[in-house]
Amino acid sequence: MRSKHLLVGNWKMNLGPRQGSSYARQLRESITNLARTDVWVAPPFASLPIVATELKGSLLSVGAQNVHWAESGAFTGETAPSFLTELEATFALTGHSERRTYFGETSDQVAQRTAGAIAAGLEVIACVGETESERNEGRMEKVLEGQLNPVLAKLTQETAKSVIIAYEPVWAIGTGRVASLDDIRGAHQFIQRVWTSFNLPGSAVILYGGSVNPSNFADILALKEVHGALVGGASIKLEQWLDLVKIAEATPV
Ligand code: 13P
Repeated sequence: MRSKHLLVGNWKMNLGPRQGSSYARQLRESITNLARTDVWVAPPFASLPIVATELKGSLLSVGAQNVHWAESGAFTGETAPSFLTELEATFALTGHSERRTYFGETSDQVAQRTAGAIAAGLEVIACVGETESERNEGRMEKVLEGQLNPVLAKLTQETAKSVIIAYEPVWAIGTGRVASLDDIRGAHQFIQRVWTSFNLPGSAVILYGGSVNPSNFADILALKEVHGALVGGASIKLEQWLDLVKIAEATPV
């Protein structure tokens, strides 16, 4: 368990270096007091150095949207974990559904990426989630298990505390169709059971992601199974993002 809510903004392929640095400056100037919430942002790789510089000494942490497992080598287009720590990034996402769907990343690769990043000292938000047809066919649990098992199998008692799970049902990402509170509770409880079956210490920290916005976030975060949110669209709109921070700050941990 974390002692604070965790609110993570995944900027996806938005806010290049110029826009990203000016947005980061606005975030730094607007978020000056946090009591109950850790606020993290994941800009695209090209914007990461300048955003990290802009947010140095602020209350926000910076991370990457993906990470390779190796320290260096012939992996065109990839980014080593140590390149991220050199930029003072503190975390990385792995297994986002857009990586799985558009770039064919497998759960075994996601597990390798996760383990490599943790070994380099990063925290990792490993993303899982079922598609609409998988849910309709009653296969949600099988799918989540298939995504989680390889990741959790590589963890040790020591490294488990560096992993956060994000439950992002694919049908709720970018669609405006947020999952119902019952759906979220059910999926998070299932993920927690899978975590426990690996005899890992403590309980899993689990974020919800998928069309989170200021009008639905308070209800979602009030669920005891939800420890925070991974947010796409609403994280790159200043007013909405600051509203989400406000809601988290107003919600008891
Ligand atoms: P949206 O908040 O835009 O639905 O995106 C969710 C997401 O994919 C965050 O990683």
